[in-house]
Amino acid sequence: MRFHLEKKSGEMMKKVDRALDAFWGILYTVFIDLLPSVLSLVAVLIYAFYVSWQMALVSLIMLPFSIIFFILGSYATATEQQKSIKCFDEALGRAYDAMANIMVVKSFAKEAQENKTFMAKLLEYIRFERRTSMKWGGISVAQTVIRTLNRIIVFTGGVYFIYQGTISVGVLIMFISFLGTVYGPIYSLGDNMRALQRNFLRLEEARKILEEKNRVMDKKKAKNLLVTAGKIEFRNIEFTYKEIGIIRDVTITVKPGEVVALVGHSGAGKSTITALINRFYDLKGGEILIDGQNIADVKQKSLRSQIGLVMQDNSMFNDTIYNNIAYARPDASAEEVESAARKANIHDFISSLPDGYQTKVGERGLKLSGGEKQRVAIARVILKNPPILILDEATSALDSQNEQIIQAALEKLMKGRSSIVIAHRLSTVRKADKIIVLDKGKVVQEGTHGELVGMPGVYKDLVDLQVGGLLAA
Ligand SMILES: Nc1ncnc2c1ncn2[C@@H]1O[C@H](COP(=O)(O)OP(=O)(O)OP(=O)(O)O)[C@@H](O)[C@H]1O
Ligand SMILES: [Mg+2]
Repeated sequence: MRFHLEKKSGEMMKKVDRALDAFWGILYTVFIDLLPSVLSLVAVLIYAFYVSWQMALVSLIMLPFSIIFFILGSYATATEQQKSIKCFDEALGRAYDAMANIMVVKSFAKEAQENKTFMAKLLEYIRFERRTSMKWGGISVAQTVIRTLNRIIVFTGGVYFIYQGTISVGVLIMFISFLGTVYGPIYSLGDNMRALQRNFLRLEEARKILEEKNRVMDKKKAKNLLVTAGKIEFRNIEFTYKEIGIIRDVTITVKPGEVVALVGHSGAGKSTITALINRFYDLKGGEILIDGQNIADVKQKSLRSQIGLVMQDNSMFNDTIYNNIAYARPDASAEEVESAARKANIHDFISSLPDGYQTKVGERGLKLSGGEKQRVAIARVILKNPPILILDEATSALDSQNEQIIQAALEKLMKGRSSIVIAHRLSTVRKADKIIVLDKGKVVQEGTHGELVGMPGVYKDLVDLQVGGLLAA
């Protein structure tokens, strides 16, 4: 999760995409371009030495210079090449980001500015590309000079050998036409080197992604989590993002089948606790136990398959509503999917759509309203049927009438399951068995609504803020 939060997904996809092109590019360069050139070069050289070894040596006299220039060229351009790739990735990452947040871009009328940022990066890329090309251009000029010098040397040497009587005029003519065959492949080697260098750099970029270590790992002897009763214990947990304490010494116990509500000001750390019980991150201190098993000691898959999570911001796949619900259990029958949708109070809405369950929800579910998305997410969890439930603001995007219907569905769903519910709306948490009040990552109050509402503190403040508003509903 830390890795994915820090990376631009567009940039990353581009890297992977280009690594594939680079891979084929390298194969093509090596097998279609280089190998035949090298083989014909070897054949020509053998024949040249056979005809006249003196002339062959003379023809090759400039070869080392030629090679040195190519090596110098690769060295001189390596950093720029790398920078140009980086700029291009950044430009694309920026464009992807803008498209992912297209509503924000449009609502702030920032199309032109996004364009400008994108173009600026592209221009920077072009600048680096131009510099690399200039350097290679310089090398190309040097190679031409070398080639011309070589012709002069071969011609002079040939004339000398003819006077000596070592070779005939015919052999000299042969060697002059040979030069093209010998140096031709070497020049194309230069072009190929450039392609190879670029492609290897691209592979290198993708390799960095592959080598990224998973920061949350299953232990070697990790067993499957066995949920029997469903007791959840947070014992003195500590958590930080980049050394900034987010959760400090939090201890919470959720008894089997109990509903515990987390309440607190925005940024208090409520969502973070839901991420921690899913082990999206490892703790800095303390431990989380489910039925006595430390979640750090069990297989992540077994842990997450027993927890149903309805998030604050539910994302959807750009696919049909049916597939988004069935994502929890692709083997579920159509009846099961429909029944889950009914329980989440979304079936009637889906049926009213022209394409019904086959309606596409659009990019990240943009075609659905916030409340509809939440109900789809709830249906997804109902279908998953996990023994532990985590609901982060599950009803925040619903109107009062809908909220009550959903609330009833959730209450049914929570029956017999250990649940942690987060809600800004206190009406949703009033019925909880226990309320935990968090403030700045610490537990500051604990009790039932009846107990807490009477005493001064964060809970009372939150209630007072909502009296006459949502709480009254
Ligand atoms: N990836 C992250 N990197 C750094 N800080 C983060 C990250 N995610 C959350 N935080 C910080 O952790 C704190 C707790 O965030 P959290 O999302 O748990 O709050 P919350 O109680 O759920 O708030 P809200 O009621 O607004 O949803 C916040 O101060 C937030 O800025
Ligand atoms: Mg939150």
